[in-house]
Amino acid sequence: MGTSAQEIYDVVGIGFGPSNLSLAIALEEHRVNFSESPVTAAFFERQPSFGWHRNMLLPSTTMQVSFLKDLATFRNPVSRFSFVSYLHDSGRLAHFVNTQTFFPTRQEFHQYLEWAESRLADRVSYNSEITGIRLPPAAASGEASQYVQVEVRNGNGAGTRLVNARNVAISTGLVPRMPDGAERDERVWHSSEFLAKFQQMKPEELKRVAVVGAGQSAAEITRFLYDSLQHAQVFAIVPSYGYSVADDTPFANQVFDPSAVDDYYFGTGPTREAFWHYHKNTNYSVVDDEVIRDLHRRAYDEDVCGTKRLHFLNLTRVNEIKRVGNETRVSLESLLDSNAQELDVDALVFATGYDAMEPSGLLGDLDRYCLRDESGRHRVQRDYRLVTTPAVSCGIYLQGGTEHTHGLTSSLLSNIAVRSGEIADSIIMGRAEGGPETEQ
Ligand code: FDA
Ligand code: NAP
Repeated sequence: MGTSAQEIYDVVGIGFGPSNLSLAIALEEHRVNFSESPVTAAFFERQPSFGWHRNMLLPSTTMQVSFLKDLATFRNPVSRFSFVSYLHDSGRLAHFVNTQTFFPTRQEFHQYLEWAESRLADRVSYNSEITGIRLPPAAASGEASQYVQVEVRNGNGAGTRLVNARNVAISTGLVPRMPDGAERDERVWHSSEFLAKFQQMKPEELKRVAVVGAGQSAAEITRFLYDSLQHAQVFAIVPSYGYSVADDTPFANQVFDPSAVDDYYFGTGPTREAFWHYHKNTNYSVVDDEVIRDLHRRAYDEDVCGTKRLHFLNLTRVNEIKRVGNETRVSLESLLDSNAQELDVDALVFATGYDAMEPSGLLGDLDRYCLRDESGRHRVQRDYRLVTTPAVSCGIYLQGGTEHTHGLTSSLLSNIAVRSGEIADSIIMGRAEGGPETEQ
């Protein structure tokens, strides 16, 4: 394993999805606006090139957030990295405005993200997975360490190297969740791998397919399978009685405002609980109105025509899955009748959601210097920096995984421009003051 003296950065970003792309923009705009010596930054991404949930880039799916909540606008409304700048640059500004929507397709937003990324590509290394963060050997002597070592594994088989960082910004994203006991294989997929797996199959082999879940991913995949496999029986295994709508009405949507982060962060336990109790249905286990109506229209049309290949198994959960030849046998349990039911399918998609980002795996031994609250969760400052003991004086920032401290926007796009600005400011201020503070 090699380490190079030159490779000491003010900030190393782990993962290069929208969150750290937004941080790269905030740092770049600070450099341009204040003509200071730039904050040196390097970002590492394990994918071979930029990609934002590529396996869910289904035709016609739309964003669940206004295009104004892009990588920069809420922090800097005149940013050259805004979605409007991208539209202008692409010659589509007037055309887009004529669509009269706040919600572009996910495909168009992906193009926007790629456009922004291409302007900062010199600071990203792809095929580069971070496998751990640790204190440098000198720190063993008890001196507070001003930097950490980040271990980078090159996906092209070029080995592993160490990079030194005065700050790290961990932004590795959501973690796909499978029900206990369900193993993925070439015919049992999680929604996060959907398109790649689907494209490996011959469509004519997929005569019976099933989708588990009642969230946005499940509804979008069910619709896609129904439309693209016109010969197939499609089963939606829905844990609720039917899909529930995602509340994006104006008052409820305030939970995603930048100011809601303060209300949540500085709130009491009951304040935080109230956010989840009243507003979980803005994001989790819910579906956009338009997709619900689209699916219902298909089901109703089938009734009118007397054909049936879209089947909703409501109040139903998966008990067990077994491989039988090329087919997967799914044991189902329904709350509508107590009899277990079996379903044989050629492909089964678990659209069963995600767990929040959890940095402990990357932190390894360093985690013992990171303080926890009485529930055992990481303590995080308002500027998204982990609270550490004095042995670590460099900053470890989280973009994601802060639902318990910063609330509902933690895994979403809504607040990334503002959050990245706050992290950039904290890093820049820390540099001016000779390093961020720590707590005993
Ligand atoms: P994201 O997951 O995008 O990026 C993390 C990156 O880190 C990935 O590129 C990953 O490869 C990389 N990585 C992971 N581990 C690594 C390691 N050890 N080393 C190096 N790289 C590593 N939210 C919203 O507000 N509006 C929306 O419309 C949507 N739409 C949407 C669609 C779908 C299909 C999903 C699953 C989710 C959404 N979301 C969303 C929520 C989603 O979390 C959000 O859009 C962003 O992806 C968050 O960006 P991040 O950069 O934080 O994570
Ligand atoms: P989700 O909202 O967490 O939904 C997961 C679904 O799976 C829930 O209905 C859940 O039911 C169900 N489930 C979990 N375990 C189950 C089990 N063992 N058996 C049966 N059902 C089970 O996940 P998601 O739909 O993937 O959405 C995740 C995030 O991505 C959200 O922020 C969403 O908005 C976003 N997204 C956006 C787009 C887009 O922009 N167009 C597309 C897809 C996803 P319970 O409620 O009972 O747990």
